[in-house]
Amino acid sequence: MRNAYPTFDDAQLGAPRLPLVDTFGRAVTYLRVSVTDRCDFRCVYCMAEHMTFLPKPELLTLEELDRLCSAFVARGVRKLRLTGGEPLVRRDVMTLFRSLGRHLESGALEELTLTTNGSQLARFAADLKACGVERINVSLDTLDPDRFRALTRWGDLGKVLAGIDAAQNAGLKVKLNAVALRGDNEHEIPDLIAWAHGRGMDVSLIEVMPLGETGAERLDQYLPLSEVRAGLAQRWTLEDIPYRTGGPARYVRVAETGGRLGFITPLTHNFCEGCNRVRVTCTGTLYMCLGQDDAADLRAPLRASESDEALQAALDEAIFRKPKGHDFVIDRPGRPPALRRHMSVTGG
Ligand code: 5AD
Ligand code: SF4
Repeated sequence: MRNAYPTFDDAQLGAPRLPLVDTFGRAVTYLRVSVTDRCDFRCVYCMAEHMTFLPKPELLTLEELDRLCSAFVARGVRKLRLTGGEPLVRRDVMTLFRSLGRHLESGALEELTLTTNGSQLARFAADLKACGVERINVSLDTLDPDRFRALTRWGDLGKVLAGIDAAQNAGLKVKLNAVALRGDNEHEIPDLIAWAHGRGMDVSLIEVMPLGETGAERLDQYLPLSEVRAGLAQRWTLEDIPYRTGGPARYVRVAETGGRLGFITPLTHNFCEGCNRVRVTCTGTLYMCLGQDDAADLRAPLRASESDEALQAALDEAIFRKPKGHDFVIDRPGRPPALRRHMSVTGG
């Protein structure tokens, strides 16, 4: 017997819907939903300057996104993160946050959160808080306005900083995500950490991942975090701490600043054993692993009927196929990306 959990066949027989557990015994309790593939930035490690985005009719409507998220919540997903692209550029996205907030009130959902580039936060921070959002992740790789412009191509640092202010003033807990880039923000990382910790924000550093063509050479950008950590350890006392947020980051406390620092190392360290998450794109494609191409279409079963029967069966079948892990490699110049899809398709 493969495992004691429901298989696709059980689902067809109408067995009761149990939590989503894969064949390696990992329960799926965390769903990340990319609500749009569009973004108002063009970060050099994420997108090419000229991108072709999905035609709007391909997208799930906000009502369909709500139904999809709710189907996962009914199966035990406790944490929901909206991502993009940039989630806050999707028209009326607050309607979705507002309606998903009901699952927080009922207690079915523990956390509703988002990952944002911060460009629209000044406008939306108070509304997000009112919908029950408590913590958000803001992507910020540099505090230097010129470097910020160069890295994001289109972004305005002032707007993002104003967005972070607004979020903190609204009572949202902010964590920064920074991609470590060789020869780029490399020497600024300690200042960025000191600045964030001084404002009560945790920071997670991320290694650049080979997702999608961007027009840049990933081997030039790639900076292993083992190297960054060794550099930081010369300046600060880094204490390993068992703190986990359910994500892949490993945390230390910086004794001198009192702040937390996370390392997300998809390339130098595999973190698949404890994976509790899956991702859905804005077209309703379910990716069971960030680092693999296997996917399941949820849009067809979603649209096939008003009942969730077919959708739930599709979930069972897909989770049954969740792979054991992924293996990214950036080892030689000109190597094509491990995956053709961009980060903005599935969200970070
Ligand atoms: N590698 C690593 N991180 C990436 N992000 C976007 N593209 C990549 C990539 N290729 C980051 C963003 C953001 C998070 C959602 O993912 O900077 O912090
Ligand atoms: Fe937009 Fe985020 Fe990609 Fe930058 S990393 S282009 S902000 S989706």
